[in-house]
Amino acid sequence: MIELEVPLGERSYPVVVGAGARHRLGDVLPDGVQRVAVVTQASIPVAVDPGVDHRVFTIPEGEVGKNIATVERLCRDWAAWGLTRGDCVVAVGGGVVTDTAGFAAAVYHRGVPVLHVATTLLGQVDAAIGGKTGVNLPEGKNLVGSFWQPSAVLCDTEVLATLPAREYRNGQGEMAKYAFLGVDDLQDLPIDEAVAACVRCKADVVGSDEREGGRRAVLNYGHTLGHALETAGRYDLRHGEAVAIGLVYAAELALRLGRIDETRVAEHRAVVSAYDLPMNLPPGVDADRIIELFGRDKKAVGGITFVLDGPSGVEAVKVSDRQLLGQALEAIA
Ligand code: GLY
Repeated sequence: MIELEVPLGERSYPVVVGAGARHRLGDVLPDGVQRVAVVTQASIPVAVDPGVDHRVFTIPEGEVGKNIATVERLCRDWAAWGLTRGDCVVAVGGGVVTDTAGFAAAVYHRGVPVLHVATTLLGQVDAAIGGKTGVNLPEGKNLVGSFWQPSAVLCDTEVLATLPAREYRNGQGEMAKYAFLGVDDLQDLPIDEAVAACVRCKADVVGSDEREGGRRAVLNYGHTLGHALETAGRYDLRHGEAVAIGLVYAAELALRLGRIDETRVAEHRAVVSAYDLPMNLPPGVDADRIIELFGRDKKAVGGITFVLDGPSGVEAVKVSDRQLLGQALEAIA
């Protein structure tokens, strides 16, 4: 078992990575907890035993159920059961579950402790770590949320074997991003060490910039186009697949801005292709609509902002030249 920490002073918390990590739940529950509200989805074949009185609350499947109505349902069910601030929420699932349950925990009674048992690769390397919680609006993804750090995260790599192949690849899209954030040779590592290497990188970034005042934006590498494709919504793409296309797009854009050379673009393509992830736009993409969506991204404060590779590494950069944005889209068509 690999034990890591997200370093946030008094709010630092452990992340346990390894086969069977879910069985450590009783060890990491906050002291004095009497009741645990386990939040999960019907399709998740992972049972947990917190060792205290607990009840399972099931939320709908998929991004469509990640909304304010689900948060209201959870809070009302917790209130009816009598959950208090001295108790705890345990989210068991992927990003939809940890984001939704995490946000409900952040607002219920103005905040109850939450722990995440991440059951997907995407959840383990990204969504469950770092305290971003939230739900979607019809107007866009994750537009309502809060920073609410968990008390602990358990990344059980044993349960990854139960994932459908496409869901596993979905996580590899987020994993691919870390190759450009200083995590080397990820593809050669056994899965526990690979997940731990991603968590270590993310924990370091979150520890230095919890609320995304600056450096944390690098964790959105590949996400500006990725989110735009997801928001445009007419394409059959999972988040990690959209991010993979976004990584190659970010490289093509950085090339056109003179920040990196062709060799570095080829490295992006090689990493994405090694994970068997897509690197081209799906057919029928409306470039004008995508560029319009770039302007609605949460990072776009005072202009379109991209996270781009360059001589000082990956960083947030304002991009005002719409022609270049369009040319880079053509390069991945
Ligand atoms: N998923 C990006 C972040 O947690 O900041």
